[in-house]
Formats: sequence, structure tokens, C-alpha cells
Amino acid sequence: MGILEGKKGIIFGALDENSIAWKVAEKAKSEGAEFILSNAPVALRMGKIQELGEKCNSKVIPADATSLEDLNALIGEAKETYGGIDFVLHSIGMSPNVRKSKPYTDLNYDFFLKTLDISALSFHKVMQVAYNMNAINDWGSVLALSYIAAQRSFPGYDDMAEAKSVLESIARSFGFRYGKKANVRVNTVSQSPTMTTAGSGIAGFDSFYHYADKMSPLGNATSDSCAAFCVAMFSDYTRMVTMQNLYHDGGFSSVGVSKEIMELVKQD
Ligand SMILES: NC(=O)c1ccc[n+]([C@@H]2O[C@H](COP(=O)([O-])OP(=O)(O)OC[C@H]3O[C@@H](n4cnc5c(N)ncnc54)[C@H](O)[C@@H]3O)[C@@H](O)[C@H]2O)c1
Repeated sequence: MGILEGKKGIIFGALDENSIAWKVAEKAKSEGAEFILSNAPVALRMGKIQELGEKCNSKVIPADATSLEDLNALIGEAKETYGGIDFVLHSIGMSPNVRKSKPYTDLNYDFFLKTLDISALSFHKVMQVAYNMNAINDWGSVLALSYIAAQRSFPGYDDMAEAKSVLESIARSFGFRYGKKANVRVNTVSQSPTMTTAGSGIAGFDSFYHYADKMSPLGNATSDSCAAFCVAMFSDYTRMVTMQNLYHDGGFSSVGVSKEIMELVKQD
């Protein structure tokens, strides 16, 4: 359909073909967008992002999303290449506490600060750098990926829950200011559990993947459908949507309990 024809962007967070950002890049390309791909330097060494870069005819520029220096260089280069950008995808998350299986009641606070910096503050940093450089064009669209653990408690998600709450709050606070400045809209997409490197790092992920699938009337949203939704959010068809946390979860967030789950826990 070419709904992103002429649009330029930056996509953060494609590690391998399972990454949500990878699917967004493929979909954005097929809809006519041009974009720069970015990820942490270590992900460039370990992951397959160069392969995606070749496929999408995109520059791959390393940036640690917690480093203002890296972000200034990256966003400066994007502005120089394109004149201005129309969309940004923040698809970044990592908790050292989750990675090292620290229980929520025994968190390492240095790790906790790292979780917040990588998974939430980096979203603010990306926008602050772009805002001060006037890098995003009028009616641009900025998205970050979130999860319903921002609102409800889930075992194993630990300090990532706090990070997602902060992330969603940043979308509202920055969304107001960027809207006033340049009609730039800022939203988060709260996605179903998805089989990716970050997803499967959560203890018991398989169980809550299947639980969510059985709770949701439409089943879990796949990463391909998430990509289609993100592309719609980057397009001109969603210009008046901002400061929202948008559930892309097959209905999960509105369900109390489903019959399938009741059958599973039935006791006679
Ligand atoms: N997989 C799920 O179940 C699920 C559900 C809802 C939301 N999300 C969110 O989607 C987003 C993408 O995750 P994914 O599931 O595609 O997994 P993924 O592991 O493919 O992506 C996470 C990305 O974050 C990048 N990253 C980590 N530290 C970074 C840093 N300092 N600077 C720059 N990049 C850094 C990683 O290199 C990786 O590319 C995350 O925000 C995640 O929390 C995932």
C-alpha cells in the first residue's frame, strides 16, 4: 500500500529475526519507508542486524541508548542524512536483575538503576536529543514497546514492571511537550507475550505465553501483527493519537477470565 512512502525513521532494537523491531523494519520497508537501524555495540557484534541492514538497504549505526554521546552522534547523522525524521521505534529492554535471576524481594539496586536506564530513561534520552536538535519533522510519530506488567503484577517480570510504568509515563509527559512543539505524537504499544530473546529471558515465560493466549479472545498478537500496528502508527492515518498506551494484545487486557482458563483450574 505504501503508507510510509517518503517517510524516514530510526529503528532501535533489532537483534535477530525474532525481534519485534526486526519485523517492524521489514514491514516499514515494504510500506516504502527509509530508515537507519541502531542497536547497542555489543548487539552489533553478537546479533544479525547487518543482515537486516542489507535487506532493507539501511545504514546500521551502533548506539548504546543510555549514552547521550552515542545518541547525539546517531540522531545528528540521521538528521544530516534525511534532513529530518518522521518516525522512531524504541524497542529496547533489559534487566540485569532478571538476567541474573535476582528475586524481586532481593533486588540489586545498581542493577535496578541499570534496568530503568536501559528500558525507560533511554526513551526520554532519545526524545530529548531529538527535541533539542529539532530532528523530528512536524507530525512525526514516536513509539516504544511496553507490556501490561506496567499495570498488573506478573511473576518473573520483576523490576522490568517498574521500567515499563516509567516508560509509559514518559510517553505521556514527553508526548504533551513534543505535541505542543511540533505536533509530534508519542505512544507506547503494550504487546502480548512474544517469543524473542528478551521475552524468553523471563522466568516461566512459556507458561505466561500460553496463559495469555488462552485468556485473549483473539489469541496472542504475533510480532508480525505488532509490526503492522506500529507501521499504522507511523503513518498519516493515526495523526491525532498521542500520549496513549495502546494495547496490542488480542483483548487480554480487558478479560477477567476465560472459559479455557476456568477449565484448566477446575477442581471437583
Ligand atoms: N517479547 C515479549 O514478550 C514482549 C512483550 C511486550 C513488550 N516487549 C518489549 O519489546 C521490546 C523489544 O523486545 P523483543 O521482545 O523484541 O526482544 P529483543 O531481545 O529482540 O530486543 C531487545 C533489544 O534491546 C536491545 N538493547 C538492550 N540494551 C540496549 C542498550 N543499552 N542500548 C540499545 N539497545 C539495547 C537489545 O540489543 C535488543 O535488540 C522491549 O522493550 C520489550 O520489553 C516484549
